[in-house]
Amino acid sequence: NQKASFLVVANRLPVDSVTDADGNRHWRRSPGGLVTALHPVLQAEKGTWVGWAGNAGPAPEAFDLEGVRLHPVSISQAEVQRYYEGFSNASLWPLYHDAVETRTFRRSWWAAYEEVNQRFATIAAEEAAQNAVVWVQDYQLQLVPAMLRQMRPDLRIGFFLHIPFPPVELFMQMPQRVQILKGLLGADLVGFQRPFAAQNFLRLTKHLLGLQPRGHYVAVDDDLADERLVRAESFPISIDTATNESIAAEPEVIKRAEEIRNELGDPRTIILGVDRLDYTKGIELRLKAFRELLEDGELSVPDTVMVQVATPSRERVEHYMKLRNKVELEVGRINGDFGQVGGPAVHYLHQSYDRRELTALYRAADIMAVTPMRDGMNLVAKEYVSSRLDNTGALLLSEFAGAAGELHQAYQVNPHDMAALKQGFLEAMHASDTDKIKRMRAMRRHVRKHDVQRWARRFLSALGVPEQQALSRQ
Ligand code: UDP
Ligand code: G6P
Repeated sequence: NQKASFLVVANRLPVDSVTDADGNRHWRRSPGGLVTALHPVLQAEKGTWVGWAGNAGPAPEAFDLEGVRLHPVSISQAEVQRYYEGFSNASLWPLYHDAVETRTFRRSWWAAYEEVNQRFATIAAEEAAQNAVVWVQDYQLQLVPAMLRQMRPDLRIGFFLHIPFPPVELFMQMPQRVQILKGLLGADLVGFQRPFAAQNFLRLTKHLLGLQPRGHYVAVDDDLADERLVRAESFPISIDTATNESIAAEPEVIKRAEEIRNELGDPRTIILGVDRLDYTKGIELRLKAFRELLEDGELSVPDTVMVQVATPSRERVEHYMKLRNKVELEVGRINGDFGQVGGPAVHYLHQSYDRRELTALYRAADIMAVTPMRDGMNLVAKEYVSSRLDNTGALLLSEFAGAAGELHQAYQVNPHDMAALKQGFLEAMHASDTDKIKRMRAMRRHVRKHDVQRWARRFLSALGVPEQQALSRQ
């Protein structure tokens, strides 16, 4: 068994194991932005990816897929409920997203969170070569850095949080706040999407543990060293822009985009939303704004239609079930009131699409509506920008998405302000071509320069991995 010199440890592998109706097992791409961003990085590094294969029970053996060594971790049914659906997605997810939904704390969830984190840490410790670099990902695995350091003090340990890090006042609600913070402080480098998140984290080390952060650093004492420096900083994540651009230029994708426009009845304006069906994404607010604009007579069908892709997500967590009902009720109401035979106002798709079909949708859309109440980054916004090769199209973007810190030329809105959200739609719709092209060109330039390869290089060099080693095969 060859040990790895570069490992990523994430709750999910880039693929999920799914069993079809005939009992055959196959692999399908996992949902979410973490996988989108990390997969090209791991391919370039030829690293090992330790993660869950997406269903309960014993995990398959390690195997190679598209240049990446995948090491599946098994999680039992009870752990899926407590560690994944419970502590990760009903305690941490709402709390870290500014409590836009109520968070729940249960003691039995915490025990499973600890246990599963220990399992990931143990596997990483077994698989890592001497002095290897281990990069731990996201809120599901915040205890892993300290657990790993305990077992393997020789490793360089990085941690990246893909979602927001809450202000001190919110974090302090968590019963296990000290354990979580100490877990993260096991890393050499803790990365966040936005500068504010890194500041929240550093402030918390002072408030909760009495540490004295200086600049981006905080000194910690642990059993292993007298004093160790932990660095906390922002590294906004991105997409593999070059690959996205080349997909957007494929003749089949261009043809498919035209087909989509025709299938929608060749409307003057296509508004597009692409989100996991998650309450942080502001899908309900977006639909409400669209409904009101139709009611006000500012928009009309079939001149304008909306396409909403709402990819199934975390379907057994209560808030997600409720959200699905609310969204589907609202879509039904809008279509009932404003649709026509063969011509709905909202084309609602509760499905998961592959990259090419999504890119065709991006190319077909005049307005991309990315209106989360809170979002760590939102890669969909960057993907839309990168697929607009002719610099047309308009991005309506929530101020509360991490992407708003970079895509300044988007039509930015506060989605909680319904009047402003409606105004944002109208502004994007009625802007002159010159204005739209100017904005899109600037955003495209940004996304081209700040791609995911640059993100990984910046993070790894801050972690002390020499530049020639970090993504050297690029
Ligand atoms: N995505 C996909 N198929 C879908 C919907 C989304 O492949 O049907 C991808 C999308 O292209 C993007 C990612 O899922 O790369 C979503 O990332 P984002 O950062 O926008 O949100 P997250 O789901 O991570 O909260
Ligand atoms: C977000 C999280 C990821 C997660 C993804 C999909 O992007 O930051 O950690 O993998 O959503 O969610 P899921 O619960 O299906 O893994």
